[in-house]
Amino acid sequence: MSRTYPFPKGFWWGSATSATQIEGAASEGGKGENIWDHWYRIESNRFFDNVGPETTSDFYHRYQEDIKQMKEIGHNTFRFSISWARLMPGGRGEINPEAAVFYNNVIDELLAHDIEPFVNLFHFDMPLELQEEGGWESRDVVEAYTRYADECFRIFGDRVSKWFTFNEPIVPVEGGYLYDFHYPNIVDAKRAFQVAYNTMIAHAKAVEAFRKHNIMDGQIGIILNLTPSYPRSQNPADLRSSQIADLFFNRSFLDPAVLGEYPQELIDLLQEHGQLPETEKGDSDLLKVNTADILGVNYYQPRRVKAKESLPNPYGLFMPDWFFDMYEMPGRKMNPYRGWEIYEKGIYDIMINLKENYGNIPSFISENGMGVQNEERFMENGEIQDDYRIEFIREHLKWLHQAIGEGCNAKGYHLWSFMDNWSWMNAYKNRYGFFSVNLETKERTPKKSAHWFKFVSENNGF
Ligand code: GAL
Repeated sequence: MSRTYPFPKGFWWGSATSATQIEGAASEGGKGENIWDHWYRIESNRFFDNVGPETTSDFYHRYQEDIKQMKEIGHNTFRFSISWARLMPGGRGEINPEAAVFYNNVIDELLAHDIEPFVNLFHFDMPLELQEEGGWESRDVVEAYTRYADECFRIFGDRVSKWFTFNEPIVPVEGGYLYDFHYPNIVDAKRAFQVAYNTMIAHAKAVEAFRKHNIMDGQIGIILNLTPSYPRSQNPADLRSSQIADLFFNRSFLDPAVLGEYPQELIDLLQEHGQLPETEKGDSDLLKVNTADILGVNYYQPRRVKAKESLPNPYGLFMPDWFFDMYEMPGRKMNPYRGWEIYEKGIYDIMINLKENYGNIPSFISENGMGVQNEERFMENGEIQDDYRIEFIREHLKWLHQAIGEGCNAKGYHLWSFMDNWSWMNAYKNRYGFFSVNLETKERTPKKSAHWFKFVSENNGF
C-alpha cells in the first residue's frame, strides 16, 4: 500500500513501561522495599487520590495477557525495567529466585511473540536500604548498582541484547534533591550535583561490566529526557539563559554519556558557584572509555526560557533557576487535558542536534506520549476514542520521518505507554496507554489509538 510517511525497514514500533509503574505485587514474590513503597507508607497524602504503588496495573500477574495484546497491536519491541529491589532485595547479595523466574518468563514470553525485549536497569526505584545509606550520594551504592547490573547481564544476557542503564537520570536529581517531588525530598543543589555525577559514574561502570559479557549483538545505552531549551528571543540574555538551562538539564548527562566528558562550561559554572561534586581518581578515564552504543530519547514537551527577571534571593539556596525563568510563549499549542505544551518539531530539533553534535549516535524515541485526565469522558461504544492521541503521535512521527530523511540515525518509536499506569506522585491521574485499565477490575480495553498503531506498525508507516 502506498504511504506518505514510510519508515526504514526494521523500524522499532512498541511502547515503554517501568517496573514500579506497572508490576504491582509490591510486597509479593520476595520483593524488597524501594523508596516508593516507603514514601507512600509515610506520606500517602502526597499521591494523587492516595493511590500507592502496591498493585498498580498488576503486570506481575497479567504479563502473559499483556504481551499477547502487545503482539496484537503490532509491537515488535517493548521496553520494561527490572526492579532492583525485587531482583536483589536490599540492593545487595543473593538474587531473589522468584524474581529471576518472573523476569525470565517475561523475556521468554516476549521472544515467543517475536517482540524484542529492551531492558532498563533503573527507573527511579532505589532500594530503600541503599537510600538509607545515602542513595546516589554514596560511592558504595554505585558499587552495589554495578554488581546488580553485572548480575542482570549474566542472568538475562543470553536472550536480551538491548540494555539501558538508566531512564531519565536527571529526574531523581530534580525530584529528590532540588524540587521536592521524589523521596528523599532534599533541597540542596550541591548534593543534587553529587547525585547526578555519581549516577553517571554508575552508568559508566555498568557499561564497563557489560563489555565483559560478550552478549550477542549486545548494545548498551541510556535513556535521556532531552527537553530542548528554547529561548524567548535572540537577545543575548535570553540566549545565555537557554544555554545554561541546556547545560543543566540536557548536556549534564548527554555529553558524558555520548562524548565521554562533561561540557567545560558546566564545570566552570559549578566551580564559580562552589558547587562542584567530589570526584575520584580514574573517573574521567572511566567516562571517556565507556560511552553509550545507543541512546533512548524521551520527549514530551519543550522547555522555553527567558532571562531571569528578578535577582535570586542572596540568602537563598543555589538553584539552576538562578539563571533563567520559565517562559510561556503566547499562542503555544497545549494539551488541555494535562497542561503541557505540545511542540512536535522538538523531536526533529533533538535528532538534528544528535546528528550534528553527537556523532549521529544510533537512537530511538524511547518515550513520547500524551497524558489525559478523566479520559473516560471520551468513551463511546465501550472504547476510548482518543483521536487527540492519534494526532499527537502522528504529528510527532511526521517530524521524526523528516529527520530520518535528512540522515538522522533514528531506529524506532516507543509510546509511553502500553497501558494506563501509575505515574509516581500523579498516580493514575493522567492516562497514557494504548489500553485503558479499570482500576477496580484491572480489565484492559484497547483505545482507538491501539488500532491505529497496529495499522502503522503493520504498514511500517502511514
Ligand atoms: C516520564 C517517565 C515515566 C512516565 C512519563 C509520563 O518522564 O519516564 O516514568 O511517568 O514521564 O509522565
